[in-house]
Amino acid sequence: MTNSKRKILVTSALPYANGSIHLGHLVEYIQTDIWVRFQKLRGHECYYVCADDAHGTPIMLRAQKEGINPEKLIAHYQTEHQADFADFAIGFDNYHSTHSPENQYFSNLIYKGLSDGGHIERRTIRQFYDPIKEMFLPDRFIRGECPHCGAKDQYGDSCEVCSKTYNPTELKNPKSAVSGATPIEKESEHLFVNLSNFESLLREWTSSGSLQPEVLHKLNEWFKVGLQAWDISRNDPYFGFEIPDEPGKYFYVWLDAPIGYMASFKNLCDREHIDFDEFWGADSQAQLYHFIGKDIIYFHTLFWPAMLSGAGFRKPSAVFVHGFLTVDGQKMSKSRGTFINARTYLNHLEPEYLRYYFAAKLGNGVNDVDLNLDDFLQRVNADLVGKFVNIASRCARFITNGQLAPELANSTLYQDFIDEGDAIAEAYESRDYNKAVRDIMALAAQANQYIDEQKPWVLAKQEGKEAELQAVCSQGLNLFRVLMGYLAPILPLMVKQVEEFLAAPIAWQPEPLLAHTINPFKPLMTRVNKKQIDAMIEGSKESLATPPPKPPKAPVAADTIGYEDFSKIELRIARIVKAEHVEGAQKLLRLSLDVGEEKLRNVFAGIKDAYTPEDLTGRLTVMVANLAPRQMRFGVSEGMVLAAGPGKEDIFLLTPDEGAQPGMRIK
Ligand code: MSP
Ligand code: ZN
Repeated sequence: MTNSKRKILVTSALPYANGSIHLGHLVEYIQTDIWVRFQKLRGHECYYVCADDAHGTPIMLRAQKEGINPEKLIAHYQTEHQADFADFAIGFDNYHSTHSPENQYFSNLIYKGLSDGGHIERRTIRQFYDPIKEMFLPDRFIRGECPHCGAKDQYGDSCEVCSKTYNPTELKNPKSAVSGATPIEKESEHLFVNLSNFESLLREWTSSGSLQPEVLHKLNEWFKVGLQAWDISRNDPYFGFEIPDEPGKYFYVWLDAPIGYMASFKNLCDREHIDFDEFWGADSQAQLYHFIGKDIIYFHTLFWPAMLSGAGFRKPSAVFVHGFLTVDGQKMSKSRGTFINARTYLNHLEPEYLRYYFAAKLGNGVNDVDLNLDDFLQRVNADLVGKFVNIASRCARFITNGQLAPELANSTLYQDFIDEGDAIAEAYESRDYNKAVRDIMALAAQANQYIDEQKPWVLAKQEGKEAELQAVCSQGLNLFRVLMGYLAPILPLMVKQVEEFLAAPIAWQPEPLLAHTINPFKPLMTRVNKKQIDAMIEGSKESLATPPPKPPKAPVAADTIGYEDFSKIELRIARIVKAEHVEGAQKLLRLSLDVGEEKLRNVFAGIKDAYTPEDLTGRLTVMVANLAPRQMRFGVSEGMVLAAGPGKEDIFLLTPDEGAQPGMRIK
């Protein structure tokens, strides 16, 4: 190995926790995974972390629509995402969630750093508000007529017909997409990060040579327009982290999302005793790379380095941007069946076909990547199976008793294959995977040519040529093994099969296997059949017929209970005989409850923000009478009273209809 051992931390963007992984996403996760596997194969200390991006209004509203809490929704998607990634052999070292204690910790820390550094300011802004839902509306949740071309049913920020952008308040006949109500304009105070404070720092970072030219070009345009202050707060109701000392204000999802990279890595560090600061400290010597799509450049090249620097952390070594996936030259389309989910693909095709195909197409630019379905079939069958895998099957059948020859038949050719490794490594390193694949397939063609010339099938029929036959086929298998090493970052599942077959490890530029015993050959990969592709497209159309990403039914169903379970809960009518403040307790009231027993029950209830003792004394309510007594700081609580509502002032104690008596069982 020419270069010394590097410490590298790599991330892919965090997928939102309210939708399934599709082939567009996989461009990124496969691209990153290949790079990480390459680094590991070359002996570097490299970690790959990711997480679900779990916060924000769309996730909150989606959970409401499904009638579940957001925690349940994001747990469902996290499970699904992790299964999809595992089945595509995406080898994360850690997969976490932005809805995690580590992420809250770092979000607060970075916010405090920005705030102490004088980078946070307050501004009152006017925004559309849904008077029925009682919430401020993100632009995407407002629909109306385009102020420029009059097109109906357009989003609040841009028109899909004339492509113009505008403010939601400019829309004609605006409607809330949440409730249908006409939104009203309402003022509220927001917190902003003053991005212009970081301008010189960002200009220096961006020109330090670590960004792709296309990305640099974009950034220079943004610098020219000027850096606007960034609104990082959102008002209640919101699913996210509440901002310290700012009740009712939450961090905007895009504040805590990239911090999720740190949180996931911290979670890994704690588990595997890795030094976190070595990777994130201001003077870290480690390398930090983010792989992202072209739609989220602003967040990663302006906001993110500013946040990191403002809070005393290191900046990324580079951000690697890729383009979007098209299928047969067009945007993925649900009606054409080309909006293909990871799972739909897996139901019909092998994951390594796609890993190979994407590798064969990916360069290091930001242009879009096309999945051409005919080309996909062609390349997998002709190149991957026909050229590469074929070397192994052509040679393996003539090896008797698994014995490889004691010497290489053509050590010059073997050395040629080894020598190509540095150019291939260079291509991987610079994310020119298409070049790496081209080089590898050129070698595969050479290996096949060698076999064509030596004609093992002819040798096999000639008496006295056994040693020559063994030598030729051993040579072929050794060449195959070198190529498997070069393809290992792309085909990790096949590597396992080949290691089993050759009874030897796959490595980068290995020593040849001589006088070595191998195992019987089993086919490594079958050809793609057009029918499988057609079935996948049909399958994608069907997932459209069944209404869009429908609810996590399973978790909901799993949570229903039978009457027996319900009957275990002993609900009784209780009279609040006495209610009083508890010295030193902020939220609690002490209730003395009559439930028809000789003695009164003592219950502590967290309802002080909503009720005074006077409100409560004498009234009837409902209590859980068989809850195990609980020792609290202020005494033992012997049950629980029932109430609805989100908390604080919004707590609503249950009251039975007239006539109910203390102690009556509720069934
Ligand atoms: N949650 C944000 C990222 C936060 S990172 C701190 C997000 N999520 S996403 O699910 O919409 O996208 C995740 C990644 O997949 C992004 O890098 C995005 O560019 C990429 N892709 C999503 N659709 C894609 C295609 N159709 N094609 C290629 N990449 C695509 O953005
Ligand atoms: Zn328009």
